This record gives sequence, structure tokens and C-alpha cells, in this order.
Amino acid sequence: MLKGALTGIGRLGRLHFKNLNMLSELRKDFEFVAVCDIDEAKLSGAHFARSNVDSGDQKAFDMSRYHLYTDFDEMLEKEDLDFVVLAVPTDLHAPFAVKAMEKGLNVFSEKPMAHNIEWATKMVEAQKRTGKKLMVGQCLRFWREYLYLKQVVESGVYGKVNSAHFWRGGYQDHVANPSYQGWILKKERGGGGLYDQHVHDADLILWLFGFPNGVFTQGKTVFEGSADDVMLTTYLYPGMVITARDDTACKGFPFSYGYEVGLELATLYFSNGKLQVWEEHKEPFSPDLSGLTKFQSAYESELDYFIDAQINGTEIARATGEQARDTIRLIEAEAKSSALTQIVTID
Ligand SMILES: NC(=O)c1ccc[n+]([C@@H]2O[C@H](COP(=O)([O-])OP(=O)(O)OC[C@H]3O[C@@H](n4cnc5c(N)ncnc54)[C@H](O)[C@@H]3O)[C@@H](O)[C@H]2O)c1
Repeated sequence: MLKGALTGIGRLGRLHFKNLNMLSELRKDFEFVAVCDIDEAKLSGAHFARSNVDSGDQKAFDMSRYHLYTDFDEMLEKEDLDFVVLAVPTDLHAPFAVKAMEKGLNVFSEKPMAHNIEWATKMVEAQKRTGKKLMVGQCLRFWREYLYLKQVVESGVYGKVNSAHFWRGGYQDHVANPSYQGWILKKERGGGGLYDQHVHDADLILWLFGFPNGVFTQGKTVFEGSADDVMLTTYLYPGMVITARDDTACKGFPFSYGYEVGLELATLYFSNGKLQVWEEHKEPFSPDLSGLTKFQSAYESELDYFIDAQINGTEIARATGEQARDTIRLIEAEAKSSALTQIVTID
């Protein structure tokens, strides 16, 4: 029986907590044994408030069936674990992941993989050295509407891509009610909007199109001590016009995300949870996406995939450490472009 633990039971950790419980009930081939959070109050289970990704229950959870820790090292020392899911502040992902892999654990770390390329590289090196499994929560790779887009681009069913615009933003809960120690809005811990939120679209763009020749990013720091809370990047690819925008500061506006992709034979438009395909002289239609993943939620699918790979002894091929490290490389180029207000080329 595979044994897993969760570290960090904040906003996103609560969602993983719920999903790990659901998957252990459903699959019966792994046991969710331990939970760690430095904030002891959260381990009481009372802290199940609403969050942007967990629109669910406010009710308290009974935590008595888990081994509870406030110290990550102690949990690694005392528990006989196969894997850990990390949903801690971004600057802790890499140090915790490296430690866990060195101890023989497989690691699922939240995105962004790390707060800089040095730590992202250390994570990949630790994965190679230890041979453990490493996966990063770049959840768009498990998100049905984005998987559909990937299939359309790869299959060429609607011809080549002419243009694409990706967006993400809204006045988020973590801005209105700062998370643990307000880390998310600190440049050196969470990296600001570019690292924390736009990383999803940067990862998607790399997945769809590979590295661009260069990037031009305009950014604005809205929250003191943060960085690039509002930003727009133009990605320089031959023959395609590709842009992405992120805004974590638009007061009052609800969190939203989407894309508009212009192909030779159709336009794909995804907004407010609705995907439509527009072809010339035809009514737009919403494709059936249900067969693309086992679960509707990408957060459930990604953890299920991570557990599957361990049970079946297969390689992690989606949202790997190396893919996530490349995404941090792209993000760093965007941050540099924003700081310099000039195009940054990528070799
Ligand atoms: N995939 C997604 O869509 C998505 C969405 C939101 C957040 N995230 C990512 O998840 C991570 C966590 O974000 P969040 O919004 O849940 O933050 P949060 O501050 O709400 O939660 C972080 C938790 O980690 C705990 N923690 C802090 N230091 C610790 C330590 N040393 N040991 C153990 N626990 C510690 C905190 O007490 C807190 O409960 C971030 O990297 C964020 O970017 C991903």
C-alpha cells in the first residue's frame, strides 16, 4: 500500500486534502497518512474557509485519523512515506522537494516549481540523482479545455495557428485576505503575479509552441514589495502572434481565465468556463470534452496521474520537473524583460 502525506494546508492545500481523501477512498491502493503545516491552528481542521480554487465547504474536518506535524523534517523522520504533496509557499517548494527526494520520497510540488531558476535546477538535479518521481502542479496540462486546444494544435485539424491570446486574473482572495505571512505578494517569496499566476499560461505556451525566440513583457507592480502584478507578454515566434496577460489587481472583478486562438480554419474561444469553436458559415459549437480526462477537475486528474505512476512504476511524462524548470526559465526571461523594458532573447 502506497503511503502519502500533504504539507501545507492553506488555500490550495485544502483542495489537495479533499482530493487525496477522495482518491484514497476511490482507488484503495494508497493511504493518506499524514498532514504537516507550520500553523498549528490549521491542523485542527477548523480552518476550512472558502478559497478561490476550493469553492467548497466551510465546514471543519475531522483530522484525528491523520498523523499531524508542524515540522516537515520531523514528519520525514518519523513517517514511512512513499510520497509527499507540497502546497507550501513557493520559496519552500524546492528546499522541501530536494529534502524529500533525498529521503527516498516521490514529490508532487505545487507550481510555480521554484522562485528562481537556480532552485528549479536543484530540484531537477535531485530528481536525477535520487531517481525519485517529481511532478509539478502545472494543472493546465490536465485541464480539459487546454487539453482540447493542445489536441487541435497538434493534430492540425483546423490548420496552423495564426494568433493566440491567453488571459488570467481577477481580484483574488489572496490579495484581499493575505495568505500565510502575506508571502504571496512578496517578490522574493511568491514572485508576484507573473510568477504566481501567469506561470500557468507561460507553461501552456511552452507546451503548445516550445520556446519562443524572445519575449517582450510590460509589467506593473501594484502591491508594495510585490512584482509584475499586472503584465502583458508578447512571445516572439515566427509566423504567429502570441500574447498573454495577467492582472492580479483588478479590484472587484472576479477571477477568470481563458483564451482566444485563431487558426487557419477556425477560432477557439474559451471564457467563463465555456469553450466554443467557430468555423466559417457554421454555428459555433462546444466540443464534448468529457473523454479527455477521468475526472472533471484538473486538480483531481493530476494527483490521480501522480499516484498511478507510482502504483504502475511508470515514468512521469506530464508536468515533469524538466518541463516545469523550462517554464521557470521562460518566466525569468519575462521578469527580466519587464525590468529592462526591452526584448529579451532566448537561446
Ligand atoms: N495550481 C493552482 O491552481 C494553485 C492555486 C493556488 C495556489 N497554488 C500554489 O500553491 C502554493 C500554496 O499557495 P496557497 O495559496 O495555498 O498559500 P497559503 O499561504 O494559503 O498556504 C500555504 C500553507 O503552507 C503553510 N506553511 C508555511 N510555511 C510552512 C512550513 N515551513 N512548513 C509547513 N507548512 C508551512 C502555511 O501555514 C499555509 O497553511 C503556492 O506555491 C501557490 O502558488 C497553486
